[in-house]
Amino acid sequence: MGEPNGPFTYSANTIHSPTTRRFINHSQDELKRQAAQAAISYIGPKLNSKSIVGVGTGSTANCFIDELANIKHTFDAAVASSEETARRLSAHGVPVLDLNAAPALDVYVDGADEIDHNCNMIKGGGAALTREKIVAAAADEFVCIADASKLVARLGTFPLPVEVIPMARSLVARALVAMGGHPIWREGVITDNGNIILDVHGFDIAAPLELERRINNVAGVICNGIFAQQAANVAFLAGANGISTLDAKP
Ligand code: 5RP
Repeated sequence: MGEPNGPFTYSANTIHSPTTRRFINHSQDELKRQAAQAAISYIGPKLNSKSIVGVGTGSTANCFIDELANIKHTFDAAVASSEETARRLSAHGVPVLDLNAAPALDVYVDGADEIDHNCNMIKGGGAALTREKIVAAAADEFVCIADASKLVARLGTFPLPVEVIPMARSLVARALVAMGGHPIWREGVITDNGNIILDVHGFDIAAPLELERRINNVAGVICNGIFAQQAANVAFLAGANGISTLDAKP
């Protein structure tokens, strides 16, 4: 998770008492909900009875799903980026379409593990990166929602998730080491696509798009968690001083 940055003073990393941690966790949940509400205010007026909404995965995306359920009568259906998200949408009575059955997606809304000032992101902390990237690619617009602690000057403090075909685990790990990273196998985790995750520590990501392409070129890699090609168009970051909006540079 990124360090607090810029105007944000969120301080979860510096407080250790169990009592205060409970308060901070509650506060962070509240910030996620505020970011989700900001996304609803932004997309709500753009939706119509034919609109299809792409929905991300994770705790912030869950807040968004809960808010989206309140306006489910204003759009046609959703496309989910994970089985978990599909279950939550269905539990709220939001119709879920397979991506192959969706003609076009108006918007994709999702959280991030890190986001920089150009709206490049690291995603995949919840192991859903591949489907997230696919659904994002199918949408006209990517709206990122996060608490402000996710904003970083440069990507790379959060270990970079890489989804890998199981038989290629060692081959890909060696290639990632040759690129300067320290991959750790996320043992016990199998993605919705039946693959494994390597979390790569130690990348200082000065050129996100270049590294995203380089890693994707390694045989056995399905997808990596750099979202530079699929950067967000706009991000709503909830901090102690309210919502900050980041727009991607044209
Ligand atoms: C899941 C993701 C999530 O968007 C990312 O991990 C952020 O999650 P959270 O909102 O729980 O902090 O990429 O694969």
